[in-house]
Amino acid sequence: MSEQTPAPQRKKRIYSGIQPSGMLTLGNYLGALKNWKNMQEEYDCIYGVMDLHAITVRQEPAKFRQQIYTTCALLLAVGLDPQKSVLMVQSWVPAHAELAWILDCYTQFGELSRMTQFKDKSQKHPENINAGLFTYPALMAADILLYQADLVPVGADQKQHLEITRDIALRMNNLYSGLFTLPEPYIPPAGARVMSLQDPTRKMSKSDENPNAWVALLDKPEDIMRKFKRAVTDSEAKVCVGEGKEGINNLIGIYGAVTGKTAGQVEAEFEGKGYGDFKTAVGEAVVEALRPIREEYDRLINDKGYLLSVYREGSERAARLAARTLSKVQRKLGFVSPEK
Ligand code: TRP
Repeated sequence: MSEQTPAPQRKKRIYSGIQPSGMLTLGNYLGALKNWKNMQEEYDCIYGVMDLHAITVRQEPAKFRQQIYTTCALLLAVGLDPQKSVLMVQSWVPAHAELAWILDCYTQFGELSRMTQFKDKSQKHPENINAGLFTYPALMAADILLYQADLVPVGADQKQHLEITRDIALRMNNLYSGLFTLPEPYIPPAGARVMSLQDPTRKMSKSDENPNAWVALLDKPEDIMRKFKRAVTDSEAKVCVGEGKEGINNLIGIYGAVTGKTAGQVEAEFEGKGYGDFKTAVGEAVVEALRPIREEYDRLINDKGYLLSVYREGSERAARLAARTLSKVQRKLGFVSPEK
């Protein structure tokens, strides 16, 4: 851009992160990652692989390491571009853990006790209700506030965490003035909420015991086809959106999301056709949508040197941004810097 053009308005900054805990699903892709890719054009985006958050539940080291590589590779494979966005690994930017400690000291026991995710996870893992699980939201607040993010794309399950992030930021701004940008939730224009293929009243989840309930981004084509062919539907045998048709609604949503068609167009396309034909078509469309991702993933996972270099550079850029906020916070709180 030439010097004469008026300074463009600063792009809004987005921060989001994903945990490297297990396979990513079709739901993660259509509900979040596809939007992350689109947002790169309009926003100044920072995306993190949140390894520190992942150890709030027990991880097996060899598997965990593999999942970190896989997640790093998949973010690139779905189209995140290190030229456009900052791609980072949370533990590679120590400022996250440092600011999290400070925020811990400004977060109340009572408010953390009310977090529904904490209550759910402590019920699910009664043998490991650790302090990190409890203070998880303060670490997430640190992720966001370090970068002065304007917007955070979050699903329903993370909304409460964004609210507590705002509460902490507001509280500290009132005490020390001008520390943090107050982040807003970002609701993407078109985000598909992908439901389980076996119980379409529940969100598609990789922790579902029934492997036919969810599609992994790296599933083989024949597995994807089998899962869609076995998807639970209803007895009406009519491809249309409707009440009590959660299974078909979900398949219409998935087909629409991968083909770019509206629900009306999908209904018209399958008018007079049976569920068998429809399920096959959805399976094939998903296979085709995931094929380039899988191919790119296979290439990247075999080039760990490149993978590491991308995330190392991104994390260095992130660290520079994070350092500004961290030193401002330390200074305003009264810490003494060793420099002077
Ligand atoms: N807690 C988020 C999840 O489990 C992941 C996450 C960590 C995150 N830090 C974040 C998301 C900051 C957005 C912003 O999905």
